[in-house]
Amino acid sequence: MKYINTYSKEIDVSQVALGCMRISQMTPAETEKYISTAIDLGYNYFDHADIYGGGECEKVFGKALALNKSLRDKIIIQTKCGIRKGMYDFSKEHIISSVENSLKNLGVEKIDVLLLHRPDLLMEPEEVAEAFDYLESSGKVGAFGVSNHSASQIELLKTAVKQDIKINQMQLSITNATMISSGANVNLQNRDGTNYDGYLRDYCRLNGITVQPWSPLQHGFISGTFLGNPDFAGLNEKLQQLAEKYGVTDTGIAIAWLLRLPDKMQPVVGSINLERLADIARAADIVLSKEDWYDIYLTAGYKLP
Ligand SMILES: NC(=O)c1ccc[n+]([C@@H]2O[C@H](COP(=O)([O-])OP(=O)(O)OC[C@H]3O[C@@H](n4cnc5c(N)ncnc54)[C@H](OP(=O)(O)O)[C@@H]3O)[C@@H](O)[C@H]2O)c1
Repeated sequence: MKYINTYSKEIDVSQVALGCMRISQMTPAETEKYISTAIDLGYNYFDHADIYGGGECEKVFGKALALNKSLRDKIIIQTKCGIRKGMYDFSKEHIISSVENSLKNLGVEKIDVLLLHRPDLLMEPEEVAEAFDYLESSGKVGAFGVSNHSASQIELLKTAVKQDIKINQMQLSITNATMISSGANVNLQNRDGTNYDGYLRDYCRLNGITVQPWSPLQHGFISGTFLGNPDFAGLNEKLQQLAEKYGVTDTGIAIAWLLRLPDKMQPVVGSINLERLADIARAADIVLSKEDWYDIYLTAGYKLP
């Protein structure tokens, strides 16, 4: 496992984070095993949201922490707020009440990192600023970031918010990579040159914001992995070939592809299969050659003009 500073200069975190969106099906004992095995494998960063499993994901995680009190101090807990049924809500009241509920669900004193989940179209930066000031000064949240935000939306927030925006969590995988391909196709009228995000990758790198790729193994929106999927036969063949070359698995190579970006991104892996988590931890230690990185990029169908 590699370690980076995503939100605090003093604390190194695993470059691969674990996403807890799919853990509600586990019992507290199984969740305790998932967390302690992950720690043994080198992971120390766990991503939640108030809405995952309708709150059940945070709750079962909290029950697991209660079963084994030694776990809390070994991990960084990130959660998100701002999505409500039928709307997004960055009002001061909603942000604060959501965090207070997450603290209760997780059974912890502090959320290490809080992200705003999806841009509220009615967002007032001053309200977010008041919520962040309260959450920081009361010790309820340690650091702040966003998710699914464009560069200009972050700039808008920064007109009032005084805390650093440390993280932007975005959908990004080998098969969902226009955030990367647009950089090689500037001003070209093709799919790969379509810039959906205002060149967010450069903005985040220039501003010291860590990008956390979400659903790094999916081709669709949350469901549908490209791994072993016959619709991506060529890509899977390439990943298998490189898995043999580097002595890891295809899943591992898919994550190593994101880790090879000089941006020092922090993919958020959602697997709850402990064997797969071990494969990915092993793959986090390899460094793909530039040639192999581009080979995967081209095999996935992206263009170099
Ligand atoms: N900010 C946002 O808007 C947003 C949105 C969605 C998700 N997220 C975050 O991102 C995290 C990760 O999302 P995700 O769960 O979609 O990520 P993912 O890591 O891309 O996908 C995990 C899923 O793929 C399956 N999988 C992985 N490798 C596989 C393989 N080789 N063959 C077959 N199936 C395989 C896993 O099954 P197994 O468990 O069996 O391995 C699991 O169901 C979430 O937990 C959440 O924290 C954020």
